[in-house]
Amino acid sequence: MKILVTGGLGFIGSHTVVELAKENNEIIILDNLYNSKIEVLDKLEKITGKKFKFYKYDLLNKEDVEKVFEENEIDSVIHFAGYKAVGESVEKPLMYYSNNLMSTLNLLNIMKKYNVKKFIFSSSATVYGNKETGICIETMGRGETSNPYGTTKSMIEKILEDLYASDNTWNITILRYFNPVGAHESGLIGEEPNGIPNNLMPYIMKVASGKLEVLSIFGDDYPTPDGTGIRDYIHVVDLAKGHVKALENMKQGLNYYNLGSGKGISVLEMVKTFEKVNNVKVNYKIVERRAGDLAECYADPSKALRELNWKTEKSLEDICRDAWNFEKNN
Ligand code: NAD
Ligand code: UFG
Repeated sequence: MKILVTGGLGFIGSHTVVELAKENNEIIILDNLYNSKIEVLDKLEKITGKKFKFYKYDLLNKEDVEKVFEENEIDSVIHFAGYKAVGESVEKPLMYYSNNLMSTLNLLNIMKKYNVKKFIFSSSATVYGNKETGICIETMGRGETSNPYGTTKSMIEKILEDLYASDNTWNITILRYFNPVGAHESGLIGEEPNGIPNNLMPYIMKVASGKLEVLSIFGDDYPTPDGTGIRDYIHVVDLAKGHVKALENMKQGLNYYNLGSGKGISVLEMVKTFEKVNNVKVNYKIVERRAGDLAECYADPSKALRELNWKTEKSLEDICRDAWNFEKNN
């Protein structure tokens, strides 16, 4: 199969390319390198022993994107490209709406023109919004999002629904990721956020390696067993494999799947496990809650198991070990 992977040099895209390459697929990567480095391409070739066609193109440039479809007989598209920083999206909403929405619309319009109608979209647990319970089930529908980034995900889901309603020959899979963490076991690829990280795992790594002094834990007064926030952390390699399964088991229609472990982990559990597995110290202090945070959020991943034959295989220990291995290597 010939698969176009947008954002394929980014964190989740690069791990997915590795897994797709194992299945003898022909992979075409498009990325504007806004949040990734060209060296990742060499690393992908090193890990897989394969070469990939790469286009340093921006999805906002329609002519360029069209060239990719003109030059390749693409069967399906996995669309990772987009901006993803929640805090930044609050400060620069127009930048987020412009990039995430317009790049997706350009891509879909060109796919339609070239009659490529298999599409996998990177959505997020954030579309469930603020709920009474921590568990997220696909049947719950979307809730109120709390930031422009999350709203772009919700809006794109809606655009895809309207597109499918207008033409049911599309096969659209919407994957709602929970918290992707960890890194490839080779230590060659992983998450490399610019500047001071916002997310828990990259922050823990910066503190463990002495690059930052102390981790602020945002609140220990949530109604959870130890008072800290609970999330569903998923190893990025498990997540990548979820895309391979989604492609293999793509059904006609528009389908949503949670990709998570189904297990809630608290901030303190994460810190303690990281310290134990890697034999390092993570200094932390408890501070005020972070605005917009939920107490608890985890997946019901049973639909993905039932319909895609996918579930997570890696443990929290694997996550902590592989993340630290990547940090030390880089
Ligand atoms: P990432 O930033 O590492 O990768 C995204 C890639 O897209 C980058 O390499 C960037 O250079 C590229 N890109 C951005 N805009 C582009 C454009 N206009 N044209 C071409 N390339 C462009 O992010 P990631 O963590 O790998 O996330 C991938 C997708 O999954 C994103 O859509 C993100 O919103 C979604 N997602 C991520 C998380 C998470 O916590 N990492 C959670 C849920 C959903
Ligand atoms: N946390 C801290 N200190 C930190 C960073 C995070 O205590 O320095 C806590 C948070 O309060 C939360 C947990 O760690 O309880 C996880 O926080 P992250 O920022 O790592 O992740 P979120 O669950 O807030 O959000 C992430 C992505 C969103 C995505 C969502 C669901 O940032 O884009 O997962 O996929 F939508």
